[in-house]
Amino acid sequence: MLDFLKEKPMNIVCIEDVFVTASEMENSIRNSKVNVNKVSSVFWGSDTKNGTQKMLLNVETHGPEAEPYPEDLEKYLGDCDVLLTHIAPIPSAVIEKAPQLKAILTCRGGLEHIDLKKCAERNIPVVNVIRNAIPVAEMTIGFMIGISRCFGFAHYEMMNGRWNRDFPNSGFSMTLSNMKIGLIGLGNIGIEVAKRLKPFECEILAYDPFADKKRLERNGLDNIKLIEKMDDVISQADIVSLHMRLVPETEKIFDARCFSLMKPTAYFVNTARGGLMDYDALIDVLKRHAIAGAALDVYNSEPLDPDSGLIGLDNVLLTPHIGGQTEDAIPKAPRLLMKEVDKIIENNITERIANLKDIKL
Ligand SMILES: NC(=O)c1ccc[n+]([C@@H]2O[C@H](COP(=O)([O-])OP(=O)(O)OC[C@H]3O[C@@H](n4cnc5c(N)ncnc54)[C@H](O)[C@@H]3O)[C@@H](O)[C@H]2O)c1
Repeated sequence: MLDFLKEKPMNIVCIEDVFVTASEMENSIRNSKVNVNKVSSVFWGSDTKNGTQKMLLNVETHGPEAEPYPEDLEKYLGDCDVLLTHIAPIPSAVIEKAPQLKAILTCRGGLEHIDLKKCAERNIPVVNVIRNAIPVAEMTIGFMIGISRCFGFAHYEMMNGRWNRDFPNSGFSMTLSNMKIGLIGLGNIGIEVAKRLKPFECEILAYDPFADKKRLERNGLDNIKLIEKMDDVISQADIVSLHMRLVPETEKIFDARCFSLMKPTAYFVNTARGGLMDYDALIDVLKRHAIAGAALDVYNSEPLDPDSGLIGLDNVLLTPHIGGQTEDAIPKAPRLLMKEVDKIIENNITERIANLKDIKL
């Protein structure tokens, strides 16, 4: 399907950032089946992880035009055959300035940073990789146990010299095996969470209007109860966990009404995106102890404002957007991506050509 990548020598342009280096990108591409002529590289984003994450959130919410692409990219576009990016935006202007562009490779699952409409017009395949679903899934399970067993509060008490075993939520501490877990969104991460929950023997309810039942079966997840209405998952679950992408249709989807449907003994977990929920509504239910607690890795504005109403609450577990941040995930994403590219070149396995349905190969 992507045979052209090995047939003729390709000019590759890598767009590095603070998370993924150009040298990792270049090494990965040189160790792959791709026939390489020359490799050039440019840098995108801020020189800090926080600054770059902020720019990425803007691109994810408002599309590839929301942040500028690297200025010096233009000097390499004239003879560029393949663009290799992590999170740098690829708007239509970049594609227009690259007349011989044949493929875009991106070291992440989300595609909000790439103008897919323009790619379809030019018949350019976009290959992506799922590189941090497992770290986020593991973090989510950690959150479920951490918040329901009061890890954060217990740690805080001990650090302050107190041996306190009486927590605000002691009355709601349960084993996962006796809980109903409600997953909202069953994509890459939702599925990895469900796979890891299976050995805990808890009941898993899920809402995803586009759930791929065959994919669930392939992953041995016939134990999941797919529920037609999100409200029914929210009102029955002992832990509600969000796993959908932030797009205009899902912005603030989890609002005050949703929180009011939760059981007073239930916990809320969000390792997906802050923009999916109404933070004022969450703070309100937490302050009133109208739900048991919340574990959050993501916020409506990052870094979290030190004056946020979340700070100081006794029923939250907070982390600074580190769900996907393990050493074996993001920095090494180019290697994983090029393995996917090799699978396409060698075996015609097309699962990771993200826009396959929009192009002709
Ligand atoms: N905390 C972190 O560091 C971190 C790292 C990576 C990804 N994420 C986030 O995790 C989330 C999930 O990522 P993913 O790779 O699994 O995404 P994905 O695209 O694979 O899955 C999203 C799922 O949501 C479903 N969906 C769409 N609309 C829905 C709706 N209205 N209600 C319920 N489900 C709906 C889709 O059908 C899809 O199955 C994203 O928000 C992503 O940005 C967080």
